This record gives sequence, C-alpha cells and structure tokens, in this order.
Amino acid sequence: MVILGIESSCDETAAAVCRKNKQGEIEVLSHSLATSLVLQSNFGGVIPEQAAREQLKSIIPVIKKSLKEANLKLEDIDAIAVTVGPGLIGSLLVGVETAKSLACSLGKPLIKVNHLLAHFYALWATVQPSAPIKSGKTDSSPSFPFLGLLVSGSHTDLLLFKSHSEYTHLGGTRDDAAGECFDKCARLLGLTYPGGAKLSKLAESGNPKAYPLPKSMTEKNLEFSFSGLKTAVANLISNQPINKLTNQQFSDLAASIQEAIVEQIVRKTVLAIQSHNISRVAIAGGVAANSHLRSTLQKQLQTYNIQLFTPPVDLCTDNAITTTVRAFFETPIKDPLLAQANPNLSL
Ligand code: KG4
Ligand code: ZN
Repeated sequence: MVILGIESSCDETAAAVCRKNKQGEIEVLSHSLATSLVLQSNFGGVIPEQAAREQLKSIIPVIKKSLKEANLKLEDIDAIAVTVGPGLIGSLLVGVETAKSLACSLGKPLIKVNHLLAHFYALWATVQPSAPIKSGKTDSSPSFPFLGLLVSGSHTDLLLFKSHSEYTHLGGTRDDAAGECFDKCARLLGLTYPGGAKLSKLAESGNPKAYPLPKSMTEKNLEFSFSGLKTAVANLISNQPINKLTNQQFSDLAASIQEAIVEQIVRKTVLAIQSHNISRVAIAGGVAANSHLRSTLQKQLQTYNIQLFTPPVDLCTDNAITTTVRAFFETPIKDPLLAQANPNLSL
C-alpha cells in the first residue's frame, strides 16, 4: 500500500509518499516541502491571501518532486491523502481540490486527514535514509493509552488517546496557542516571524529567573492561557525599552519568557498524567521542537516514571509525512468529490 499525501493548511506546501511494508511499518519513500515563510516574515505574520497564492504556485512542483524522489509514477499510488482542516481556507482549498482532482482522474481512493491528529503521526513514521530528515530516525511509537500534548502555532491541547480512532479532548487553550505566544513575544523583542525558534536560541545564554513573569492558569484544571503572558511582556518592554537592554539582559528576557511558557505546559501535562493515571506521553506540533520544553518535560516525567515520546525535530512543524502516515489509520471516503476543506475542523 503506497499513499501520496498532501498538506497545505497554512504557509507550507508539502507532499510525501509513504509505504506500509510487510512488517506493518510505515516507510517514508520521499517528502518535499515549499514554504512561503520568508515572504510572511516581511509582514510579521501569515497573510492568508498571500499564503494561498504561494500554495497555488508550489503544489504541482512539490507533488512532482516527491513522486520523482520516490521513483514512482502517479499510477503506482494506491490512495491520495490530504489535510482537510483546520487551517486557512484559501490554503486548504489548494491541497484539497488538487487531491480530489488526482483521486478522480486516477480512479483512486481519497483519504481525509485532520491536521491536528496528523501532528502526532511523525511517531509512526519509519524514516528511510533516502529521506533527508536531519534529526534521523524517530523514537518508537507509543502504545495505547497515552497522553498526547499538541503544542503548535495555532493549537495547545491535551488528548487522551485510547486507540488510533478513539481519543478524548482533556483540555486546551482559552486564548493564544503556545506557538502563538512564542511568536508574539518574539515580535515584541523585535525578532522576525516566526520567532519561536529564534527566541529559544537567544534564551540559551540567558537566565530564566532574571525577569519575574506571572504564572498563568494556576487553577487545577487542564486548560491553558497564554495571552496574559504576552501582555506582561508588552508592559515590561514599555517600561524598559529593548534598545536600552544589554545583550545579556536581552537573552535573560528571552529565557524568562521561554521559562514561563514551558512551565505552564509542563505543569498542566503533569496534572493530566496524575488525574488520568497515564504512563506514556507523546508531544507534537511546532513547539515540540523546543529543546527546553523537551528537557524539562523529560526530567519531570522521569520522576513519575512516565515515558516521553518525541518526534524528530524536523517533523514537529508542518510537513506532509505526518499527513500521509496518519492516512494509513483512516478509511477512504466513498466519493472523493465529497471531500471539503474545513478551516474550523476540530478534534
Ligand atoms: O505546528 P506548526 O508548524 O504550526 C501549526 O500547525 O500551527 O508550528 C509552528 C509554531 C510557530 O509558532 C513557531 O514559532 C513554533 O512552532 N516553533 C517553536 C520552535 N520551532 C517552531 N517554538 C519554540 N521553540 C522552537 N524551537
Ligand atoms: Zn501544524
């Protein structure tokens, strides 16, 4: 079984080809990705109309490239998978309509994939040496049940996975997502979009205790809130302009912001494992690439004897490998023409 998967939910246009082998492992035969990030960074964020136009330019070249790298033709593909939501409607439409056209013209099944679930499926991919993933092979995948922590640019959620098709939403953010908070705070520091990884790099040489930022969402529930932290950083900067800070103070501020975001995520994750008696945790989404989050979570979970599953850093942000791998656990829809992009698709 070979699946060609397409992801176009935001500002990345991606395609991947994956195959299930005789041992039941899902091998990545190829993947390719085009991003309009450089364009978006000039404007401090994603402009939906512009992202959609860039999707249109990239979709066919990206699909062609992934087929070529897999050394396969369209006729060799058994099914087409596509992200149907959530995301930006203009961007999603490009991927969904392309996938529908391919499925109909080739007479192949179409598989709809929820982007939020897909993020976790980097953990079920067996990355082949031919696929240039810098961080190498993934850890083994978690067995069920496990706690899923999704920390992306647009979502922050805790999920209890009982099987590939059964999961319960335990809690999520009331306002900004963790990645959004990283990006907004980074922007206040004058860093270009998306600033999460840049802020994290700066934080490496900073003191996380230098700037006391408020501890958010201290209530014993599984909900998150990050917008207060962003306001606190904005207030701090209005009293102490960043151009007056020394390099060390600048790094200290970055480290303090990162610490406040990570502290909340780790505290709520620990609360979730305690209240649901879970022994495995998997993280996913762009912020799962953050090394401070990974190490803090690892340290905390070790004390509870909980195993942490982390995807390769390169597969945390949007890509089509996760979409394609998730498709192996979904049923194709009866009529490909009925597939519709849904920007507000939930879990
Ligand atoms: O999962 P993703 O590609 O986007 C959504 O599907 O929403 O994640 C992108 C987010 C951005 O907010 C970006 O700043 C953040 O992930 N991010 C990071 C790091 N790498 C990416 N945040 C903190 N530290 C990082 N190393
Ligand atoms: Zn994503």
